[in-house]
Amino acid sequence: MGTKTAKAITKNVGTLTLPPGFDWQHWVERWDRMQARYLVKREERFALLARLVRGEATHREGKGPSAQVVDLGCGPGSLMEVMLDAMPRAEVWGIDFDPAALLLARARLARYGERAHLALADLRSPTWADGLRILVRLPREVDAVISATALHWLKPGPLATLYGQIAALLRPGGLFLNADHVGSDYPPLQTAWERHRAEMRAAQHDGRTDEADRNPLADENPLGANLGSAEPADANSGSPEPWDEFWTAYTAALGLDAAEADARVLGGWNGGVEQGLPLTWHLDALREAGFGAVDCFWRCDCDAIYGGFKLL
Ligand SMILES: C[S@@+](CC[C@H](N)C(=O)[O-])C[C@H]1O[C@@H](n2cnc3c(N)ncnc32)[C@H](O)[C@@H]1O
Repeated sequence: MGTKTAKAITKNVGTLTLPPGFDWQHWVERWDRMQARYLVKREERFALLARLVRGEATHREGKGPSAQVVDLGCGPGSLMEVMLDAMPRAEVWGIDFDPAALLLARARLARYGERAHLALADLRSPTWADGLRILVRLPREVDAVISATALHWLKPGPLATLYGQIAALLRPGGLFLNADHVGSDYPPLQTAWERHRAEMRAAQHDGRTDEADRNPLADENPLGANLGSAEPADANSGSPEPWDEFWTAYTAALGLDAAEADARVLGGWNGGVEQGLPLTWHLDALREAGFGAVDCFWRCDCDAIYGGFKLL
């Protein structure tokens, strides 16, 4: 990474810095292992996101993809890396409100030079896109906006507003895709989904992929009292590090005390909808925001990839 780029990114990831000799690779790998615990078939979903965005860009250009892509809630840059590898002429902007996550993204993506841009911004702000046009030369219009396991952190009101902001940022025909949790407003179904997800997580970590792929509804009635009253399986069984443990260890390694670690996030935490809103809510909100051909592109119980194209 050139000095100019390093300075630009430093300015935009906040004032935190990595201590000298910091083993960022260890933390990036540890992040990905930890996230695989939460996101069912994370790699498969990242690959599908890349394939859909790349396919769209290739179709549009007819010669090879050089898309401009924005990743909302990019964290340490895992999905950005997949996109940058899938489209060697693409430029990707990653946005997050956590400067500690962006530090890892900056180290991880340095090898992409000017193709990777990072910015500290709060997606709940009405002006985040305008600010980033000045700070990190975010284009007026981009080809695709993507996200993974981040937007359920927003409450319904701010999320609906964000869908409007995404539509405003996309070129006509541009693609929005989100890989995230989707919930059910019918508790027995939510219980069944979460139980199966816990089983899949456990099986995934034990290498029992046949059991992980078993359809939980094949031999049980999701509407029956039996399933509705079932206890969710132990989500920790067979799995590696939980979220909180990662953050406690990583922020301590950065030299932050508990109060500093808690205060680091721009605008503060204020919780979203942990289990995710129903898919129908998202598809309706996207239509309302100016998207067409809204659809579910992948789904496994309460995890999905959904999105749509900005109307022409
Ligand atoms: C579970 S992590 C996922 C990170 C990354 N997309 C991945 O899959 O590895 C969720 C990310 O969303 C970010 N995030 C949540 N709410 C946000 C907001 N209001 N503005 C910006 N980033 C936000 C968090 O800081 C965190 O990095």
